[in-house]
Amino acid sequence: AGIDAAGGQPAAIPAAPPKAAEPLTVIYASESGNSETLAGNVAKLARKQGFKPKVVDFADLDLATLPKAGKVIAIAATWGEGEPPARAVRAYGELMGASAPRLDGVEFAVLALGDTSYVEFCAIGKALDARFEALGGKRAAERADLDLDFEKPAAAWIKGTLQALAPAPADNVVAVDFARTGASDDEDAEPSRDPVVVEVVEHVNLNSSRSNKETIHLALAFEDGAPAYEPGDSLEIYPENDPQLVEEILKATGLTEDAALRKALLSERDITTLSAATVERFVKATGHEQAKALIESGEVRAWIEGRHLIDLIETYPAALTAEHLDTITRPLPPRAYSIASSRKEVGDEVHLAIAAVRYESHGRARSGVASTHVADRIANGAKLRVRLKPNRHFRLPADPAADIIMIGPGTGVAPFRAFVQERRAVEAPGRSWLFFGDQHFTHDFLYQLEWQEALEDGSLTRIDVAFSRDQPEKIYVQDRIDWNRAELVAWLDGGAYLYVCGDAKAMAKDVRIALERAYAEVKGLSADDAAAAVAALERAHRYQQDVY
Ligand code: 2AM
Repeated sequence: AGIDAAGGQPAAIPAAPPKAAEPLTVIYASESGNSETLAGNVAKLARKQGFKPKVVDFADLDLATLPKAGKVIAIAATWGEGEPPARAVRAYGELMGASAPRLDGVEFAVLALGDTSYVEFCAIGKALDARFEALGGKRAAERADLDLDFEKPAAAWIKGTLQALAPAPADNVVAVDFARTGASDDEDAEPSRDPVVVEVVEHVNLNSSRSNKETIHLALAFEDGAPAYEPGDSLEIYPENDPQLVEEILKATGLTEDAALRKALLSERDITTLSAATVERFVKATGHEQAKALIESGEVRAWIEGRHLIDLIETYPAALTAEHLDTITRPLPPRAYSIASSRKEVGDEVHLAIAAVRYESHGRARSGVASTHVADRIANGAKLRVRLKPNRHFRLPADPAADIIMIGPGTGVAPFRAFVQERRAVEAPGRSWLFFGDQHFTHDFLYQLEWQEALEDGSLTRIDVAFSRDQPEKIYVQDRIDWNRAELVAWLDGGAYLYVCGDAKAMAKDVRIALERAYAEVKGLSADDAAAAVAALERAHRYQQDVY
């Protein structure tokens, strides 16, 4: 299924607004905030059309309310390898489980967000869509599965879906071709957070030259004042591709003379990501027989693993035109990084800590687009295009007297630098405890001197570090949690807020297990009760995650 799933004629007659305010529940499962923003957009437009919308985070969703909801729009992001966003795990599990309530009489529509560079594209939205139907719900509009360039098709989908949900005479229900309607660029759109150009005023490698890593501390100056960001927010960077890769693609396609194409490949198109959809578009454009055979063999998912667009073009040489490359690729998406500074300390700057992503696969050196753009091709004085990405689910406690526990190995420590700066600036009386981890003490202790200063001035109460490769056995942040579990649980019992930032795949999960174990051991709880205690913390928004 794709965004053109509804098919049919373009929308002609907008449905009449409902007479009495029609309740509409908009539920969202969001990790980085996109689904949440869209849910807000739905509510805004729905209100104008006479609905009475209610926006609910999956984290706060009480399933028992769903059967009576009447009309439901669900917006769900898929994360990593086909997983729900961290905050949505509980409600999603309940909905998929045997005790989920029947949804007869509920009209629903699902908007799925995903990233085609992962295998299980939009898996969560697809599963929800099927589940709502299996529970007896009536699908009011076809699901749309959207990639990172979701903004325009999402606006079109929202418009069409609200029409479909509006109680109108039957002949007034029009099929909407979401692929062709385009964005509604009326005043219903989110207040614009347009990208702005900023200047790099600091560019330093935080690791030693002998480290396996390269983490760039970046200070960006906003000429017209920094956007009103809060600790916990992220900043999106609009990167440029590696010019060397652009040349390789131009060479492989024989299009080296095309200056407009070179420019587009450099800064507008995603020329690395290779998804099954990319291969399909390639075959459609070129009719390449062997590439077609690859799709038909069912091996395409295995083949694209660790490969990029250049591998496709080189493995299956074809007479590609600039137009072909345009249809095969998707727009180059911005990359979001957790902000590592507080405006109260750095004024009109934003600081970021960005780890350069470099690895080798299938005999070729690969590099992360935005991170190596920053590490290799940006220096002091350079310009960058950026946009604020707020994250109101990763926030310091409103009460500065509350204690905070921060768990951030590697670049996961970035937002905690912002937290500590902020709490120093407001002279927060609450205690703060940081768990940091990385490979080697001497090479990888990001912001070490600043933590020492913070310990001295009291803005940091305590730091526990886990350097994984300084001894024969691995030591990770969750081991530090284990060793300090009694005190950690005491802090939490006293109302502390706990934050986790960094790797979602392994670290954040292992930390959760460590927390559950801490509750089990310190309080003598069963595994189930300990898990429930951690879930309760989460529901109280005292366990917040910013993981990627
Ligand atoms: P490693 O690379 O030595 O395995 C920041 O990247 C730190 O996180 C590194 O010290 C890394 O250790 C560590 N790390 C790797 N996997 C982890 C996991 N599952 N939980 C916690 N930390 C982990």
